[in-house]
Amino acid sequence: GSADNGDIQSVLLSEAQIASRLDEMAAQIDADYAGKDLLLVGVLKGAVMVMADLSRRIQHSEAAMDWMAVSSYGSGTKSSGVVRILKDLDADLTGRNVLIVEDIIDSGLTLSWLISNLRSRGPASVEVAALLRKPTAAKVEVDVRYIGFDIPNEFVVGFGLDYAEKFRTLPFVGTLAPHVYSS
Ligand code: PRP
Ligand code: MN
Ligand code: MG
Repeated sequence: GSADNGDIQSVLLSEAQIASRLDEMAAQIDADYAGKDLLLVGVLKGAVMVMADLSRRIQHSEAAMDWMAVSSYGSGTKSSGVVRILKDLDADLTGRNVLIVEDIIDSGLTLSWLISNLRSRGPASVEVAALLRKPTAAKVEVDVRYIGFDIPNEFVVGFGLDYAEKFRTLPFVGTLAPHVYSS
């Protein structure tokens, strides 16, 4: 990751705060999936950091990892809820316990679409682990089993989250300085 610079207004969640919360989430996941199959599904690209740092804390000896890339299409407004698959899973979900791993739930529309898509493939279960959730997510009914932090409705970047593909590599979650998105 890169160091802080003038583009970041403030650190919302430090590396230490994130690490500590991921420890707790991993322990809960281990307890819930003990003796069960577990397939972690990361949603590219934002979920890369959460997937890496959460999965390595999970003690479950047979947890598998797979990836999906999805994108809204049409008008380009993110909140259309119409999603297309850019990269599908390699795994057959029949009978699997799927845990979707996300960085953030904003409108909740991506996740809502993804849950129904994966549920249609015959899995034993589909649950969600997300590091961040914005208050806007309350508008869509998405059942999220594991949440790291409920955050204010601000533009956040870092720890996988981007603004125009930048800032994903920051090791913390920070708010973006207004001059970045107003210029
Ligand atoms: C972001 C984020 C979530 C989604 C949340 O992904 O990583 O996947 O938006 O938004 P929603 O709740 O309003 O649907 P994005 O589409 O920016 O792709 P990226 O992960 O590649 O950055
Ligand atoms: Mn994403
Ligand atoms: Mg993005």
